[in-house]
Amino acid sequence: MAELFQLYLPLCEPQRPFMVGHLGQSLDGRIATESGASHYVTGPVDIRHNHRMRALFDAIIVGAGTAVHDDPQLTVRECEGDSPIRVVIDAERRLSADLKLFHDAAAPTLLLCAEDKVNDGDRHGNAEVVGIERDAESLSPHAIKAALGARGLLRLYVEGGGVTVSRFLKAGCLDRLQVTVSPLIIGSGRPAIVLPEVTSLTEGLRPAVRRFDFGDDIMFECRFHG
Ligand SMILES: NC(=O)c1ccc[n+]([C@@H]2O[C@H](COP(=O)([O-])OP(=O)(O)OC[C@H]3O[C@@H](n4cnc5c(N)ncnc54)[C@H](OP(=O)(O)O)[C@@H]3O)[C@@H](O)[C@H]2O)c1
Repeated sequence: MAELFQLYLPLCEPQRPFMVGHLGQSLDGRIATESGASHYVTGPVDIRHNHRMRALFDAIIVGAGTAVHDDPQLTVRECEGDSPIRVVIDAERRLSADLKLFHDAAAPTLLLCAEDKVNDGDRHGNAEVVGIERDAESLSPHAIKAALGARGLLRLYVEGGGVTVSRFLKAGCLDRLQVTVSPLIIGSGRPAIVLPEVTSLTEGLRPAVRRFDFGDDIMFECRFHG
């Protein structure tokens, strides 16, 4: 019980904008096979943790890659609590509206895409479509955070995949990054965090971390702000 308080209480406190990213990776830093199979890289404790995190946050964010490969529900099922608003980032609107989260009624859903891909009163299945300004790479992570904040969605949980979490990390948007490492070696597959190349290890990020035993896995929580 004490461990639950230790892990979750600090995450319950901030009522200001607060963004946490999470990835479950193998020892060799992969979150899925090359073909996109990721069920399951980490064990049951990490899966339950994801559901608890969903219940504590206003919105859960995933990238288009995760939506298309997993067709996830992104609801709270493994613990008590309300399901958060579901947010899918799909800049070019390539995703089919047939995906579960666009037509089930399990929780309100937003599709974030480039402003030039939105038409008036537009919906994607049941999801509301929100236009976001582009930056040099794709959609601006800061503009995504601001657009969600303007809707009262201040506490944001980014559940993957690697591309999406990496973009928020690179932009300096993440207050915390949780990486659960499983004793599994895949040897190929989709990477967890990818950032621009550095030439010296002194340029790598060395945040303060908290460590938690998640059964056979270990979760590292990196603190970037606050
Ligand atoms: N082990 C884990 O913790 C975990 C968690 C989640 C998912 N997964 C697995 O990971 C795989 C997917 O991960 P992934 O890294 O390949 O993809 P991803 O992060 O799920 O999605 C990447 C795509 O999302 C869109 N996107 C994300 N951020 C954006 C931004 N700021 N601006 C514009 N577009 C943005 C882009 O779509 P467009 O290219 O279409 O513009 C981008 O290519 C799946 O196989 C899934 O099963 C594993």
